[in-house]
Amino acid sequence: MISREYAILLLKTEGCSDNIITHCIDVSTYALDIGKKVSRDHEVDLNLIEIGGLLHDIGRSKINGILHGVIGADILRNKGIDEKIALICERHVGSGISNGDIEKFKLPQRKYVPETLEEKIVCHADNFFINGEKVSFEMVYERFINEFGKDHPSIQRLILLQKDLGKYL
Ligand SMILES: [Fe+2]
Repeated sequence: MISREYAILLLKTEGCSDNIITHCIDVSTYALDIGKKVSRDHEVDLNLIEIGGLLHDIGRSKINGILHGVIGADILRNKGIDEKIALICERHVGSGISNGDIEKFKLPQRKYVPETLEEKIVCHADNFFINGEKVSFEMVYERFINEFGKDHPSIQRLILLQKDLGKYL
């Protein structure tokens, strides 16, 4: 596994702004915190969570919006970074990306919903940061409703993430 220092260097050399780097550090710290609590009940790779958290938004150096996850994952793959980290990046957007949105935004056909505990933890930790501030689940939920509408499948996935991880936040 690459070091924390190397992960931060990668963010810089790819051209991530200071704001993005600060956000990545915040998400990594919070995800690691959650991961430590989860590790009392489940086997979980804390190192993977820490580094995955740091690199989850590396794609924002190139693009914002729904594509930054898949673009970031491919940046990491091209650099020979562990596939597990690339998948954390690819599956972290929102509460994962629904099939309908894969079509709508013409994303490559891949799985964009977090599956492993490490993927879920980074994805969920990320959602708790809004404009650099850590917020409550109620605020995360409200933002999802405003962004997607109450019937969008992202809402159910967000609720499931909270059901799995809420007691460890
Ligand atoms: Fe992101």
